[in-house]
Amino acid sequence: MGGRDLPLTATRDSLFPPPDVVAIADGAVLLSGFAEPLAEDLVLTVGRVAASAPFRHLVTPGGYRMSVAMTNCGTAGWVSDRTGYRYTATDPETGRPWPAMPSLIADLAARAAAAAGFDTYAADACLINRYAPGSRLSLHQDRNERDAAMPIVSVSLGLPATFLFGGLRRADRPRRIGLRHGDVVVWGGPARYAFHGVAPVADDEHPLTGRCRLNLTLRRAL
Ligand code: SIN
Ligand code: FE2
Repeated sequence: MGGRDLPLTATRDSLFPPPDVVAIADGAVLLSGFAEPLAEDLVLTVGRVAASAPFRHLVTPGGYRMSVAMTNCGTAGWVSDRTGYRYTATDPETGRPWPAMPSLIADLAARAAAAAGFDTYAADACLINRYAPGSRLSLHQDRNERDAAMPIVSVSLGLPATFLFGGLRRADRPRRIGLRHGDVVVWGGPARYAFHGVAPVADDEHPLTGRCRLNLTLRRAL
């Protein structure tokens, strides 16, 4: 008998190690590196979605062009224009339904939600955000979704960013949380309507995404 014997049975933990869970607030956690094993496939998948529903810079109801470029997949896609924010079944740019939600993304979101303590999560909307260097997202709440019991699952890829995670009032000073490639944040329950945003992304180059950060925000919208 040497020291090289491997256990004969693989445990669940040897395939999916227990996630590294960091509490951000009551109802909000950071799952460090949770999506890292899928990152390459996720980036390719985003490319396929963007080939049929191109990234675009939406205009806010107040008339500002957003610095973040966006697209969607899923049965519902989040859009903004001069008339307001809403979910649509079709892409207003192309008139076609949004690309279907790839199971790679839906399954990842369900596993992340479960790791954060939210069972039975089935996202129907995936907003895809693309941040070029200097792009930012000002503090806001996600509140166009029907079912407040369903959390938000947010997957970060590519360049790092500082996530601003505040409280339930706009004036609450946000915590600054470093988000790296492969990190996933889940917020729901008492944190479901927390104000959040992203500080301007610093210029750099990432081996998988080049000079950008990608973020997938999954929601149960309908
Ligand atoms: C969002 O709030 O929609 C995006 C958050 C992020 O990019 O991390
Ligand atoms: Fe958001």
